[in-house]
Amino acid sequence: MSKHKVIYDTDPGVDDAMALVFQALHPDIELLGLTSVFGNATIETTTRNARFLAGRFVAGVPVAQGAAAPLERTAPDPLAWIHGDNGLGNIALDMTDEAELDPRSAHRFIVDTVRAHPGEVTLIAVGPLTNLALALAEDPQIATLVKQVVIMGGAFGTDGVLGNVTPAAEANILGDPHAADIVLGAAWPVAIVGLDVTQPTIMSHEYLASLRDRAGHAGQFVWEVSRHYEAFHEQSAQLAGIYVHDSSAVAYLLAPELYTTRSGPVRVVTEGIAIGQTIQKPSTMPVPAPEWDDRPECKVCLGVDVPGMLALYENTLCGTL
Ligand code: BDR
Ligand code: CA
Repeated sequence: MSKHKVIYDTDPGVDDAMALVFQALHPDIELLGLTSVFGNATIETTTRNARFLAGRFVAGVPVAQGAAAPLERTAPDPLAWIHGDNGLGNIALDMTDEAELDPRSAHRFIVDTVRAHPGEVTLIAVGPLTNLALALAEDPQIATLVKQVVIMGGAFGTDGVLGNVTPAAEANILGDPHAADIVLGAAWPVAIVGLDVTQPTIMSHEYLASLRDRAGHAGQFVWEVSRHYEAFHEQSAQLAGIYVHDSSAVAYLLAPELYTTRSGPVRVVTEGIAIGQTIQKPSTMPVPAPEWDDRPECKVCLGVDVPGMLALYENTLCGTL
């Protein structure tokens, strides 16, 4: 099988970093580049972190700096209480081997790379969707040239969960709801890996400790980078472990059979108290819904084989695939 050619659009971010390690070590993924976006921290911080991560785990892979703010709103404050003051759990960052910064903007990098590999590139997007919306604005035809877009974002009501920042909104979608509505309405194949499947997927304290002991320098890194993040989960959700958000998008790409999905167009609420809410019209729904009906179908993940996902991550890091 040929490898998945991936552009990783990311706002590192502790779980973004863990998902980068996953991609770096999986033999079926070829990373073509990282594109940074504001989100968990400022664009300066997320770009610095992306350069640190690429230099350490995927030497030679470039980083292109992306959007500093959403299309129509002001940039959110950094989530220091979740991801640490430096966005990476306050671990010390040795920048000696930092990745090269591509001179192009993230959206230009996406356009050029997709055009260089027509039909082959998967976009894994795990931050606000501003860079993808800007790429579509610059070159709308790329929608037909991208192989697949896998998004970590949104929530569709499983167990009553519609958001993690507000009762109605998940962080990445709320980060730029206008961009999200554009990206989910474009004519590229989209899979959405939202809170419905990322919150049931939990890496326990013991699981992370086991990675630390068994997965070499990658496992040690995952342990260190997740200490602050785990403390946040304990305080906020009384969890002895962490939700697996961004790595779930990677797992979907590698093993979609681990997920059950529902098809149908998705809209994003862009104003009012439910701003950032993601609403799907299931393709089986018989009533007309003009705001949805002329839009392409997205696959929304509603169920996950949790042991299968955790085993995939563990075996990737331990080299036991
Ligand atoms: C998402 O928000 C960010 O804080 C995480 O990195 C993840 O992408 C979860 O809602
Ligand atoms: Ca993220």
